[in-house]
Amino acid sequence: MGDLSLIILAAGHGKRMKSEDSKVIHRVCGKEMINHVLDAALKAGCANATVVVGHRREQVIRAVGERAATAVQEQQLGTGHAVMQAARELERSKHVLILPGDTPLITAETLQAAISKHIDDNNGATVITARVPDPAGYGRIVRVGEEVEKIVEHKDATDGEKLIDEVNSGMYCFDSALLKKALEKITADNAQGEYYLTDVFEILRNEGVKIGAFTVENYQEILGVNDRVQLSEAEKLMRARINRGHMLGGVTLIDPDSTYIGPDVVIGTDTVIYPGAILEGRTKVGDNVIIGQNCRLVNAEIARGVDIWSSTIIDSSVDEGTHVGPYAYIRPDCTVGRNCKVGDFVELKKASIGDGTKLSHLTYVGDADVGRGCNFGCGTVVVNYDGKNKYRTVIGDNAFIGCNSNLVSPVTINEGAYVAAGSTITDDVPSETLAIARARQVIKENWKDRREES
Ligand code: UD1
Ligand code: CA
Repeated sequence: MGDLSLIILAAGHGKRMKSEDSKVIHRVCGKEMINHVLDAALKAGCANATVVVGHRREQVIRAVGERAATAVQEQQLGTGHAVMQAARELERSKHVLILPGDTPLITAETLQAAISKHIDDNNGATVITARVPDPAGYGRIVRVGEEVEKIVEHKDATDGEKLIDEVNSGMYCFDSALLKKALEKITADNAQGEYYLTDVFEILRNEGVKIGAFTVENYQEILGVNDRVQLSEAEKLMRARINRGHMLGGVTLIDPDSTYIGPDVVIGTDTVIYPGAILEGRTKVGDNVIIGQNCRLVNAEIARGVDIWSSTIIDSSVDEGTHVGPYAYIRPDCTVGRNCKVGDFVELKKASIGDGTKLSHLTYVGDADVGRGCNFGCGTVVVNYDGKNKYRTVIGDNAFIGCNSNLVSPVTINEGAYVAAGSTITDDVPSETLAIARARQVIKENWKDRREES
């Protein structure tokens, strides 16, 4: 039996999002809210996890993947009812952490501190609370002296209770066995006709169980997202947090308010990022990189000393010292070597580019393996698609491809070969030869006079 289980409640519709989708799969800084919560909880040390799903459950299950089990709540009869659907999880560990799926800003550090307090104080139940500027809508923490007496939902609160500004975050630690027993006693006898998880606090207290509260320092960590205004607020707070972390780690962000970095992105020191850059997914950026204005990097691996201007790189890697852009488009499955140039209006797809190769402008290279030290003239096209199938092209080291050439795949340009400008190459070019594949130039003498006479 593990020490700590996790249950995340994510069965609700989230009607105020006005969305066809489950609320918890809406993204904050590129990651689904449910995964922000799950990441924080797993990092805080939860051994096993169950997510309670209901509305659009297939979306939630897909987002969570293998990282948590799921329990289905067919009808959303309240948060207490939702936990009952995950009763199996209560048998797997001595303690359980329960979290809502719509609080993406919660951190592992705060959860860890709350769990430690729960265990160190020998509590049967611990609620994570916060003092907030506007408590409307939240459950209120009713205390007698220092002790938590009960949690009252906003809709069930008296006018006096509504003045309390300490609210329930919806996050709790429980002794699993005690919670299981208390859940059997809750009823739906309240303003919303729901089985409230919050009712177990009063039940446990009446049984003499020790109840505690852990009050967060920064109330923003417990903010829930119920509509798209709050979604944008969470996005802004998360962005500020992520960007601050990178700046303190040695990355220069020229305008952090307009720099969009996902939570799982890694960036080296002395890298400079210009406004409008978007770094997504598992992107990894080395030291001393320049990421210019309006770049988009998705799962990109960028080595040290690279500079990239106004370009898009997806699922690809770029090695040390290479220049990219402006306006390059590196599509999935490319590897670009060291000290290369991928210049303006160059598109790469499923291509490997050897060290020192230059594709300076207006070029398409798809489904190709290009060696080292090659030079592509302006306007080269690798003709990889015949309308039905795609073929690969191979270009050896130090090949020189003249301007405005078509390389019709599958074709091999061998090491050190030259292709004359304007050629359409359909046959392999042997090493160190020159291929000219275009009509010869013809000069018509006295053309102007002959034209005017006729
Ligand atoms: C809940 C708390 C409230 C607290 C607030 C914090 C209760 C009764 N109230 O209220 O004290 O201040 O969170 O944000 O617990 N869910 C289910 N199944 C259900 C109902 C809800 O899975 O039947 C899930 C939702 O998808 C959501 C979470 O539980 O992720 C919270 O539910 P929600 O309806 O938003 O609760 P609140 O009314 O905000
Ligand atoms: Ca809520």
